[in-house]
Amino acid sequence: MNLTVTFQTPGCADSTFIIKAKGGLAATLYWADETAPIEGWSPLAIIPLTPSGQGIFHLTGKRSIPPEATHVLARAIMPDLCRREEFLAPIPTPYRSSFLKKKTSLCVISDLHLTNHPGKIRQALLRASHADLLLLIGDLVNDGLPDQFEMLSHCIQETLPGTPVLPVAGNHDYPISPVPRISEGLSGYPSFQDHLMQRAKEYGLNWNQDPSGAYAVYTGPLKIIGLSAATHWRKLTFQKERQLTFLEQQLSDRTKNELGIIMCHAPLLAHNPQRKPKTAHPYLTKDNALQKILDAQKKFIYLSGHTHLSPNIPAGCAEHESAGSRIYINTGSVRPTDLKTNEPLIPSDWKDGTILDLNITEETIEITTKSIQTGTKYPRAYYRFPLPQ
Ligand SMILES: [Fe+2]
Ligand SMILES: [Fe+2]
Repeated sequence: MNLTVTFQTPGCADSTFIIKAKGGLAATLYWADETAPIEGWSPLAIIPLTPSGQGIFHLTGKRSIPPEATHVLARAIMPDLCRREEFLAPIPTPYRSSFLKKKTSLCVISDLHLTNHPGKIRQALLRASHADLLLLIGDLVNDGLPDQFEMLSHCIQETLPGTPVLPVAGNHDYPISPVPRISEGLSGYPSFQDHLMQRAKEYGLNWNQDPSGAYAVYTGPLKIIGLSAATHWRKLTFQKERQLTFLEQQLSDRTKNELGIIMCHAPLLAHNPQRKPKTAHPYLTKDNALQKILDAQKKFIYLSGHTHLSPNIPAGCAEHESAGSRIYINTGSVRPTDLKTNEPLIPSDWKDGTILDLNITEETIEITTKSIQTGTKYPRAYYRFPLPQ
């Protein structure tokens, strides 16, 4: 058996893997140390082998190599389905990653779609207990009902009594038909956001609430801006356009060192995680206006949800542009995720609900996504970007 790995750029995991395992049926690729796959990480890929035992896999999407990994391991399954062969290839030093210290740790979850069974949601919230802050990127409940938001408030208080939680609304957070009490902010999503604002203030967070529904929270070197771009009829639109003016002001008024974190349920068309042509229909009615504001700014991370896509899709869930000064992340889903891939063999846990960790250090943004059910980390959802300047 043999494995050849060609890496393309130091600090980046993009690479080509060529496997030769005579008589093998399929091979699984893992990031590994000098003896075995690194613990707690899912495979990189499962590749069918040709009758001559050959297989090739191209890893694209500018992921990173986890710091624990010093080797790549290929494990081939032989025709009796019991025997396996393994081959370890070292990762050359310039391509390995160093360990980062934890600094500011944010957890991000999206698309919880709570109905009346909160078990999965409790499990997701418990996985955020190490974080300084939890961000919720919309579709928090399934039908926008006041009872569902009440249940979610209980779950948060029960599982994360010491963690501030910042939300934005998704298209499922308002009932399909208008309900006056909710439109007036007396129940449903608006009062849930209000409740979390009061709660965050009790933890000493500085929360600037705009009458449009948007808000900004200042914490250390971060300015976190919440945009609630959703309304009845399952629409992704700003109820009040003033939210965009608020965003522009908040981004422009930052100090030189402040990193902007923008939370909005809808992905932007130009950063569509499905990478459809740019002629596709935007998710958000004010997509163009919002994109224009962002194109004039730097040093921010834009977090979206809505797609329920697995971060294991070949193109990946995160991208950075303009020398890393703008990062766009589509954050997966607490509900089972969608893979949209032609790959014939995929591990079953790649469709699990996901939780994303953002570790923000002096120089680096580290993104790790894992399965809510098992806590297994996904190599295809591990990124490191230089801290936007
Ligand atoms: Fe959703
Ligand atoms: Fe949605």
